[in-house]
Amino acid sequence: MTAALPLSALENAGEFIPRHIGIDAADEAHMLSVIGEASRQSLVASIVPRSIARASTMQLPPACTETDALAELKAIARKNKVLKSFIGQGYHGTHTPGVILRNVLENPAWYTAYTPYQAEISQGRMEALVNFQTMVTDLTGMDIANASMLDEATAAAEAMTLARRSVKAKGNVFIVSGDCHPQTIEVIQTRAAPLGFTVKVIHSSDEWLAAIGQDDYFAALNQYPGSSGWLADWQMSAELIHSKGAALILAADLLALTLLKSPGEMDADIVVGTTQRFGMPMGAGGPHAGYMACRDGFKRSLPGRLVGVSVDVHGAPAYRLALQTREQHIRREKATSNICTAQVLPAVIASMYAVYHGPAGLARIAQRVARLTAILAAGLKQLGLPALHATAFDTLTIDLGSSEAAQAAVQRALAAGANLRLLRSQCVGISLDETSTRADLALLWQALAPHAAQPSVEALEGAASLIPASLRRTSTFLTHPVFNTHHSETAMLRYIRALSDKDLALDRTMIPLGSCTMKLNATSEMIPITWPEFAQVHPFAPADQLVGYAELDRLLSDWLCQATGYAGVSLQPNAGSQGEYAGLLAIKGWHAAQGNAHRNICLIPSSAHGTNPASAQMVGMQVVVTKCDENGNVDMQDLQAQCEKHSANLACVMITYPSTHGVFETHVKELCQIVHRHGGRVYVDGANMNALVGVAAPGEFGGDVSHLNLHKTFCIPHGGGGPGVGPVCVVEDLVPYLPSHATAGLKGKVGAVSAAPLGNAAVLPISWMYIRMMGAEGLTAATEAAILSANYISVRLKDYYPTLYASANGHVAHECILDLRQFKETSGVMAEDVAKRLIDYGFHAPTLSFPVANTLMVEPTESEDLQELDRFIDAMIAIREEIRQIENGTWPQDDNPLKNAPHTADSLLAGDWSRPYSRQAAAYPLASLRQNKYWAPVGRVDNVYGDRNLFCSCLPTSDFE
Ligand SMILES: Cc1ncc(COP(=O)(O)O)c(C=O)c1O
Repeated sequence: MTAALPLSALENAGEFIPRHIGIDAADEAHMLSVIGEASRQSLVASIVPRSIARASTMQLPPACTETDALAELKAIARKNKVLKSFIGQGYHGTHTPGVILRNVLENPAWYTAYTPYQAEISQGRMEALVNFQTMVTDLTGMDIANASMLDEATAAAEAMTLARRSVKAKGNVFIVSGDCHPQTIEVIQTRAAPLGFTVKVIHSSDEWLAAIGQDDYFAALNQYPGSSGWLADWQMSAELIHSKGAALILAADLLALTLLKSPGEMDADIVVGTTQRFGMPMGAGGPHAGYMACRDGFKRSLPGRLVGVSVDVHGAPAYRLALQTREQHIRREKATSNICTAQVLPAVIASMYAVYHGPAGLARIAQRVARLTAILAAGLKQLGLPALHATAFDTLTIDLGSSEAAQAAVQRALAAGANLRLLRSQCVGISLDETSTRADLALLWQALAPHAAQPSVEALEGAASLIPASLRRTSTFLTHPVFNTHHSETAMLRYIRALSDKDLALDRTMIPLGSCTMKLNATSEMIPITWPEFAQVHPFAPADQLVGYAELDRLLSDWLCQATGYAGVSLQPNAGSQGEYAGLLAIKGWHAAQGNAHRNICLIPSSAHGTNPASAQMVGMQVVVTKCDENGNVDMQDLQAQCEKHSANLACVMITYPSTHGVFETHVKELCQIVHRHGGRVYVDGANMNALVGVAAPGEFGGDVSHLNLHKTFCIPHGGGGPGVGPVCVVEDLVPYLPSHATAGLKGKVGAVSAAPLGNAAVLPISWMYIRMMGAEGLTAATEAAILSANYISVRLKDYYPTLYASANGHVAHECILDLRQFKETSGVMAEDVAKRLIDYGFHAPTLSFPVANTLMVEPTESEDLQELDRFIDAMIAIREEIRQIENGTWPQDDNPLKNAPHTADSLLAGDWSRPYSRQAAAYPLASLRQNKYWAPVGRVDNVYGDRNLFCSCLPTSDFE
């Protein structure tokens, strides 16, 4: 018998660490022997420059078990108070249908998928996104809609810049109705300032009419229905606005639009909003899918991702991302927006909500809300409290005569377990929603007029509709069969399953995407996000109801400071791109405060991710691209020369570390010093933080600002393209320039960058759980394992695909770029062909042609075990042998398993088989595939066709027959 272990060992506080890290001690020993290193630590020491190694370990609570972490987080969650919300202001109660909750929101087949850049393995989620686009297009009455925005407020800000790009009017004023949600106005003001737009906020109808009659503006934004509940027809405004060559933007509520004349019918140019109330819990502000729709003429300038319909190589319809040439990854500082990660999972949920309820079901929900609102208004009138506006869908504003009376009503509602919105000091706002009941009306009447005889719902049931006849919707919507078929739970369940079966996500295979860190999204990390204490709270509820979120914010921020070496963090940015934007705003604000507002040059190495230059452009900085040397490193001479050239105007440099070339550059400290000497600040893009946590900290080696991607390094799943969280982390003197949020009572030097103060608050528990269960030791081990795995792949594949960039000792960081450029010459094979052939082998391709064309960037992460790493390596080696068959003439360059990949079952079952390789070689190039085979639902998708024949809505079902 072995000696008894001490109790502490049996309690196994670190149990989660080996669950998260895929390789065990034996695997590690084997991998080290292949690389030729003695230990994981010595490997890392030979890779991470000594000059930047962390001075001290991260001060984090020690690792704890999954059960303990959940219990600790539950105690924090319980500090939030879940009250009934009548606040509205863009956030409403909603019932997430159970079939969607369990089979989409809680289903790894959906939440662990990546952005659908590889069209052939993403057909399911792209169908859901096309449903989303069709839903938005139909309800808004517009020509085209994109596949989600980050939230309503940022969508409105993007609409402002879309309008600026698209209209003839020359003025630089942007008119905003004061009846827009306050957080929307705030985010617009933040965005407008660096771009030099003047935001004119309007406070009455007369002022609005006067403002749109001027010639000094390029677009005007109103809310429909208004934030106060007011309903108006904006058609006349549209005419006047168009006569000035400007654009009308409406922020519209999709549920209301099932009953209301659509913005398209009023001739709006751009329509934005949130789809939150289509099944996504309020979650203290996010994640929710914002949306944007516009007229056809604006489509080539639309921000964000757009799914279009194309054809595959066999002529079958197939989805793909459309018009990518608008986007930051191609157009960089000339892109229409910096958006990369968006809100795909919430968009899928909203689309499924519409599929499940269908047009009649949605209209019934909306009619119920509208009827209850009309009854509420009639009762209030009976109580001597007529609503401020005669029209409404779901929101009433009631003037209580004095701020004391309004406060007292709010307090009485609170005592009864409900939140009202306090407006303009003496008014209260009440918004009803899908969850509202007859009992709620009684509660509200009682809260507002406690001493009067109470009205009865039954007696007021016939109350007249508050939607004026002229504004009632007469046009149809959601007529496509997809919205009229899956209404039983069985049908819905099977539809959801059928779509996810078409896709590859992390639940089936590693996704070795460089720069994307597709690691484990553990179940215990995901569980808390649907706890009511996190999911069912309104972002603008009183602070004493959000104490749990405040604690989560404080703890997570402290831990991220420990991980990065920075002094302050804001969790508000809801994607990495937004973190970049917020970080650059901080730099800009700081320079201005030093009397250096003229400093506007942003140096960016050519290898940078497209969001970097796109974000710099958004804050009005001028991008100067600096060179990289032949080893992929920042060319220090060029950087120095550019710093000298632009010394007087240098705002900052944006670098990624380790670089997007997958290397720890040894000169990074020196680089930071040079930039500082010239008065600039250093932005370290933290997307590659998975190679740094516990090993080196950007805040210690010279960085001034970084964003993190919690949806990479800190385990928030990618959701098929969002939600993300992009915290911005800064050194001490930049802390005052982190985003504030006046709407939520947080004052500061820089305004809000997201609609909600904590951005995508409801997914923050995921990163909290990860850090809590790993502790400093586990997180450091994860970094080391990620570096070990990347080096193992690089070494094992070196005789087949050389690694393009490595440090002097031949090592890489946490990812490696496999060089495939030579095959074009020898066999006509491109990296894309290898990416598509990997699908036949059951893999999601690595990152294709970023940052170097015709290469594959592989990032295995620490979560993959040795077996999976070897499976990938075996597939890559087998593909190299296939390339050899082309090189030696066995297969023609234009007819071989790579060029014809991926092979669909259909194409292999075709009667005639005239290929120079067998059907077996096509489908089962490795024997192991017979046990576990993924079949791509479509063949290679034709990208050019899709952009030439742009179609972004649901296809007629006959096209699939
Ligand atoms: C290096 C780098 N920077 C920035 C980003 C942008 O992050 P997000 O997609 O969260 O906006 C990415 C995303 O892939 C990235 O790889």
